[in-house]
Amino acid sequence: MGDALFEIDPDIRHARTLPARVYSDPDIFRLQRDRLFARTWHYAGHDDLVKVAGQVHPFTLLPGALDEPLLLTRDQKDELHCVSNVCTHRGTLVVEGPGHEQQLRCRYHGRRFTLDGRFHSMPEFEETASFPSPADDLTQVSLGLWTRFLMVSLAPAMAFDELISPMRGRLDGLPFRELVFDAAGARDYLVNANWALYLDNYLEGFHIPYVHSSLATTLDYGEYAVELDRFSVLQVGVAKPGEPAFALPPTHRDHGRRVAAYYFWLFPTTMFNVYPWGVSVNAVTPLAVDRTRVAFLPFVWDASKRDAGAGAGLDRVEREDEAIVESVQRGVRSRLYDRGRYSPAREGGVHHFHRLLAEFMRA
Ligand code: FES
Ligand SMILES: [Fe+2]
Repeated sequence: MGDALFEIDPDIRHARTLPARVYSDPDIFRLQRDRLFARTWHYAGHDDLVKVAGQVHPFTLLPGALDEPLLLTRDQKDELHCVSNVCTHRGTLVVEGPGHEQQLRCRYHGRRFTLDGRFHSMPEFEETASFPSPADDLTQVSLGLWTRFLMVSLAPAMAFDELISPMRGRLDGLPFRELVFDAAGARDYLVNANWALYLDNYLEGFHIPYVHSSLATTLDYGEYAVELDRFSVLQVGVAKPGEPAFALPPTHRDHGRRVAAYYFWLFPTTMFNVYPWGVSVNAVTPLAVDRTRVAFLPFVWDASKRDAGAGAGLDRVEREDEAIVESVQRGVRSRLYDRGRYSPAREGGVHHFHRLLAEFMRA
């Protein structure tokens, strides 16, 4: 794959956007699996999924992109683990559904593992030489916990702490312990577009006045701010006068600013949108080169604030975003379009994302 495809000028004033092929070529999508998705952190769920000792929760990491069967467990010592859910004998899935277990037992030939993934026992293997060895344990997978949220990575190119440190500084002090998952309010959106187009759109507030008439009435466009970090982008939505905002203590760096929303994006697929009512997690699953699933997962700490301001009407805003992103997907297939330019004033987040994507895609 030609590396010229993945050159983005570090100076946004001179840079051109990603070539259109990056959003439509199935070969590039295939390359992204190993070069990008396997080496980065992805949202895996919240701590209530494995709340008590002995609880197990199998899931597939990024179906369509990685398709990796994984297992979250909480062991008897109350420690959380993420391990491969593939039996080290002949490769059956070990745990088929969520539940409570003393041990993990493969239903094919009865191999047993402890809840931290270590090999425990296996019938009919007395004569097998050099057995068991560490290769017979379930493979450990990197697991990170930020407040109540779990993220995993198969072969992380960056430390979890580095990824999430910008959120720590900004959001410490908010009542994450009180968050309750609103399962009835959770939604999956299927978008007929490349996953990176969805994020290009997420990473700029430039389109708000054009695409989101309702959101534009609550946010102050002039005050909208973008902050870049090594592996993340923060967008700060500032409320118009009279619109709901956080009550931040005098010690907080944003005290005096009427913050309506913190939009944190963690490279490449996870967003934590933090509002006065709680957190809306957006987890992006790239299903195919031109198909993406986006989960909207609401976690609430103050239900009374849910219906006003930038954090209200998220379904409508999402549908507006979907429609525009699907339009871009049709455009990037054109023979008559290749690359665009950036607005230094408004598209710093998109440029930063493209630089990261290019960095990971270069051979
Ligand atoms: S595949 Fe698991 S015990 Fe044989
Ligand atoms: Fe939008």
